[in-house]
Amino acid sequence: MVEPINVALLGLGVVGSGVARALLEKGEAIAQRLGRPIRLRRVLVRTPDKPRPVFVEPSLLTTDAATVLEDDQVHIVVEVMGGLDPAYRYIREALGRGRYVVTANKEVMARHGPELISLAHERGVDLLYEASVGSGIPIIAPLKRDLAANTVRGLRAIINGTTNYVLTRMDREGLDFRSALAQAQELGYAEPDPTNDIEGHDAAYKLAILASLAFYTHVPPDEVYREGISRLAAQDFRYARELGYAIKLLAIARCDDGPDGAALEARVHPVLLPQEALLAKVDGVLNAIEVEGDLVGRVVFQGPGAGASPTASAVLADVLDAAQALAHGRPPTPWRAQVSLPIKKMDDLVCRYYIRMQVTDRPGVLAQIARCFGDNQVSIASVIQKETNEAAQTAEIVIMTHAAREAAVRATIADVEKLDVVVEIGNFLRVEA
Ligand code: NAP
Ligand code: HSE
Repeated sequence: MVEPINVALLGLGVVGSGVARALLEKGEAIAQRLGRPIRLRRVLVRTPDKPRPVFVEPSLLTTDAATVLEDDQVHIVVEVMGGLDPAYRYIREALGRGRYVVTANKEVMARHGPELISLAHERGVDLLYEASVGSGIPIIAPLKRDLAANTVRGLRAIINGTTNYVLTRMDREGLDFRSALAQAQELGYAEPDPTNDIEGHDAAYKLAILASLAFYTHVPPDEVYREGISRLAAQDFRYARELGYAIKLLAIARCDDGPDGAALEARVHPVLLPQEALLAKVDGVLNAIEVEGDLVGRVVFQGPGAGASPTASAVLADVLDAAQALAHGRPPTPWRAQVSLPIKKMDDLVCRYYIRMQVTDRPGVLAQIARCFGDNQVSIASVIQKETNEAAQTAEIVIMTHAAREAAVRATIADVEKLDVVVEIGNFLRVEA
């Protein structure tokens, strides 16, 4: 009789239930492919008698982490609990005990990935985390393997489905931010407290993971520059469309050789993106990651960025990989941070900018504003003035700049804000080529 590979699940929520269901439904096919069956041996939960979308033998459920982590018969630990603690401690303990670990946890991997991967390799096992970015989209394995011969120049990604859904509704239906978010919450795409997604934290964790892999470094998530989407207004989408752009929350990482050596851009913020760009066409809850390598050129990975089945697809791919390594005695594929790269300051970013402002509608106003731009060496590319509010005697102006340093643009905005003809700066967005 062939010995099974035993799996312990830490968590039986959305993802854990998807993994358990796929293991039950595809058990035979998996056993045939692998040459050994995979058996669910223990499942850690908080509330054992809660109704679940999948039937799991009640005797497998436990609330005692020690009985799972200390079980010598468990070969692979799958962490799908989420959060930093106790997930990080459990992953460390499992690796320390020489277990393969598969995780979907972006927060743990962004904060502690390099340390945990080193621990795994010291113990002759591996830590696999395909589901931590882009759910079912293969991106971690391609970065580690298929693109390994490339020097990655940069990557740009839509890696938060909630915000992409909100932006798509704002664009297509002319909704304001609050209404689009409420719609996303009603449909279950956005959580009751949507801060993590809306303010870009989720995307920053995922970018830290991708950039660390792509550039063989460690990008701490707190060093990723981050802006969310809550400042966007319905008219930003109208102006963007008129100018030939879509608005997307992009996660961007680039490595450039500067006068002081190589340095990284790592940033998450809304951008104006040309409508014909591939990423501009990625709508709704879909995710997409575009990688530019010196050999391959530009490749785009697109698909569902959340959900029980797509995430189970990625988790189980890692489980199969670990099971194959165990079954055939294959050593884990090493990956290590090799270089320490400084993260560039946003002040040094050079790109085009979109600036929307509300001004008093009277003669000479544009000239005063234009002087602020000129004084800071920021060149204006185009100006739109629309929607004059005759009662309030105000007008809305949108200025597009030529490429300029962010420090200069911020100094310009500070000067413009001081003019008594300027009511408010409505928004300020970076433009991606
Ligand atoms: P979830 O539905 O909230 O499930 C969490 C599970 O972990 C629950 O079964 C919960 O037990 C258990 N759990 C939490 N804390 C625990 C503790 N201290 N002790 C024991 N059990 C505990 O979360 P999820 O959506 O499945 O997400 C899991 C992970 O996958 C997260 O890292 C998330 O970022 C990642 N991920 C999720 C998706 C997605 O589409 N949902 C996509 C990609 C990645 P009870 O059921 O008893 O409460
Ligand atoms: N909350 C994430 C999103 C899914 O909206 O994309 C899990 O990573």
